[in-house]
Amino acid sequence: MAVTVISGGTDGMGRALALARAARGDRVFAIGSNRAKGERLGGAVEFVHADLSTLAGNRAAIAAITAATPVVDALALFANRQAPRRTVTADGLETTFALYYLSRHLLSHGLTPLLSASARPVIVNVAGVGTTKGAIAWDDPQLTRGYGMVRAQLQAGRANDLLGVAYAAEHGERVPYVLYHPGFTRSGDASMLPPPLRLALRVAARLAARTVEASVAPVHDFIDDPPKAPLTAVDRGRPLPLTLRTLDPADAARLAELTAEIRA
Ligand SMILES: NC(=O)c1ccc[n+]([C@@H]2O[C@H](COP(=O)([O-])OP(=O)(O)OC[C@H]3O[C@@H](n4cnc5c(N)ncnc54)[C@H](OP(=O)(O)O)[C@@H]3O)[C@@H](O)[C@H]2O)c1
Repeated sequence: MAVTVISGGTDGMGRALALARAARGDRVFAIGSNRAKGERLGGAVEFVHADLSTLAGNRAAIAAITAATPVVDALALFANRQAPRRTVTADGLETTFALYYLSRHLLSHGLTPLLSASARPVIVNVAGVGTTKGAIAWDDPQLTRGYGMVRAQLQAGRANDLLGVAYAAEHGERVPYVLYHPGFTRSGDASMLPPPLRLALRVAARLAARTVEASVAPVHDFIDDPPKAPLTAVDRGRPLPLTLRTLDPADAARLAELTAEIRA
């Protein structure tokens, strides 16, 4: 029986993974901020209530999981939310940066001791690897100037690419890291978007998006048979070369340094 931790395990792709892993007999911890969604997961999944956009929320989730199990076999990272307007968290960080990137950094590193205790551990970071749009705003990572929802999403996506590179360089021999881009999928909370955009997305999803089950299928494979390589990057079914400019080791080291400053 594997122990699987899923951030954003209460909705969309993370929820589908949580329910499917529990049905296969895994012990599953699903982290989310919405209690009602957590309760709807049912008794086979252990709901961890936490706001992953805050440092305290991530620390509390890590502490709760560490108190509940000495080993984690798989960590799958899905939590994200669109923010049409710039907001800041209790820590004074731009929300998309905090939730979509920093939480994944904290959970990956914070659960490394438990993952290291597994015979075949893996971390799967579900974001947008392979996309070369967007960049880290090195002089203004909290996007105080020129904020845009898409810009914030792309910046955090590129930060997750670099998180994978930096993590794999440090721990990947013991805990392999997978960057996985699911492609356009029939999931995603659009309730905060303006109604015309929501409608357009719904129509586009019906025409072009993959089912949640199809998008999650490779994540099962990564958990069942973790790659041997310290870092693997896959866009839908396509393995990506680690020479992509978005996976630059110098940028990864620079972001790791910036992140350490933010954490301090
Ligand atoms: N859908 C697509 O077309 C697509 C395409 C490419 C990449 N992706 C990426 O795939 C990942 C999963 O997407 P999805 O479509 O499955 O998303 P989703 O259906 O919107 O689910 C997002 C999850 O994140 C959780 N979450 C949001 N804010 C949180 C917070 N403050 N604290 C804790 N949990 C929080 C939500 O739970 P609560 O509501 O309980 O907080 C939910 O479980 C995302 O990283 C997304 O960027 C998606």
